[in-house]
Amino acid sequence: MFKINPSDAQNVHDLRMMAKKRLPKWLFEFVDRGTEDEVALRNNRAAFERIKLKTQVLVDVSKRDQRISLFGKSHDMPIAIAPTGAAGMLAYKGELALARAAKAANIPFTLATGSTTSMEDVANLVGGTLWFQLYMWSDVKLSHMLVERAKRAGYEALVVTVDGPVNTNREYNVRNGFTAPFSYNRKNTLDVLTHPAWLLTVLGRYLVTTGMPKRENYPTELKERYTQVSSAERKTKNDSLSWDDLSILRDMWPGKLIVKGILTPQDAERAIAKGADGIVVSNHGGRNFDSSMAPIEVLPGIVDAVGHKTTIIVDSGFRRGSDVVKALALGANLVLIGRSTLWGATIAQEAGVARAIQFYHEEISRTLAYLGCNHIAELNRNLLEFVDTPHMPLAM
Ligand SMILES: Cc1cc2nc3c(=O)[nH]c(=O)nc-3n(C[C@H](O)[C@H](O)[C@H](O)COP(=O)(O)O)c2cc1C
Repeated sequence: MFKINPSDAQNVHDLRMMAKKRLPKWLFEFVDRGTEDEVALRNNRAAFERIKLKTQVLVDVSKRDQRISLFGKSHDMPIAIAPTGAAGMLAYKGELALARAAKAANIPFTLATGSTTSMEDVANLVGGTLWFQLYMWSDVKLSHMLVERAKRAGYEALVVTVDGPVNTNREYNVRNGFTAPFSYNRKNTLDVLTHPAWLLTVLGRYLVTTGMPKRENYPTELKERYTQVSSAERKTKNDSLSWDDLSILRDMWPGKLIVKGILTPQDAERAIAKGADGIVVSNHGGRNFDSSMAPIEVLPGIVDAVGHKTTIIVDSGFRRGSDVVKALALGANLVLIGRSTLWGATIAQEAGVARAIQFYHEEISRTLAYLGCNHIAELNRNLLEFVDTPHMPLAM
């Protein structure tokens, strides 16, 4: 009765619209929107429209192949799934759906610190190429315990997110009644009741099985029901972190260390000097700091500074395969996908995530063909041009 056929979606924008119908407004907007005036959110998309790709005709492009090699492993596509703490609220055990689809597509999956499925469960039940995203809490020792757990569970990379020293200012959450701590009021209760598909297949299913979802990676000191964020959030933000904290992680973590949330060549250099194996050029999908540059805008400068000595990953606002190709042509090694795969999980669990990945696969392949390329390695800056035309920002 509540099943949605992911084949009815023709692109990730359709997946988003289907998810919008299914989710309570407070939850949809929590995922979809940005922060403050949402300038960064809009600019993330608009920046792609200012980059044009140059076609090459009459080239035999019949052997198109988008496999890449990353950290010594081969992957079938130049994308990975980004860490998103909300996945388990959008779909019942949504992290498992994301991880399974990533494994089937042979791309990495990044599990967020705040996930509602534990890192051990994801590793034991799914496997594949797993990365663990770490937030450093005010009690750093507790964060170090997570690092030890991730090591034991066999995660291949630690993705340390550094772009949230303080809480961001998402005013729509307050307007929607999604406040901390969460309390039921007439507005948000009605919002839930008028979205029975989500109520029964996600919230209801948790309530009759494991109870209200919790952040399962959190130690007992911080673990609370998902909706009670107040005290946990206070302890989970840390405005006194420094580069020395990264050095400590480097000493503790034998696998690949990736720093997420870099937006300048200077910070990229610092991360590498501290032993990072890679960086994620990211403004958190426009969710944190509204005056930030779009990652795709700062990417060329960062590639010029450190591209020869590190792995450069980028995210924020990638909705089409052509967006991915633009980043690769500018010198990135990999693109993380956040909201698009979340929408897929929302509407149809693993099949929905697979559909989102399929869109990127087909669109990357099509873009390569127009550019006269058979391999990702052929992409370079001669294939694109920045143009300064007026644009119509898209709303996603
Ligand atoms: C709902 C939601 C939750 C997120 N949670 C986290 C998180 O827990 N840790 C993190 O490093 N990034 C988090 N992010 C940011 C993503 O990892 C990624 O940087 C961003 O979504 C990429 O932009 P896109 O959604 O436009 O693809 C979150 C993003 C969304 C939309």
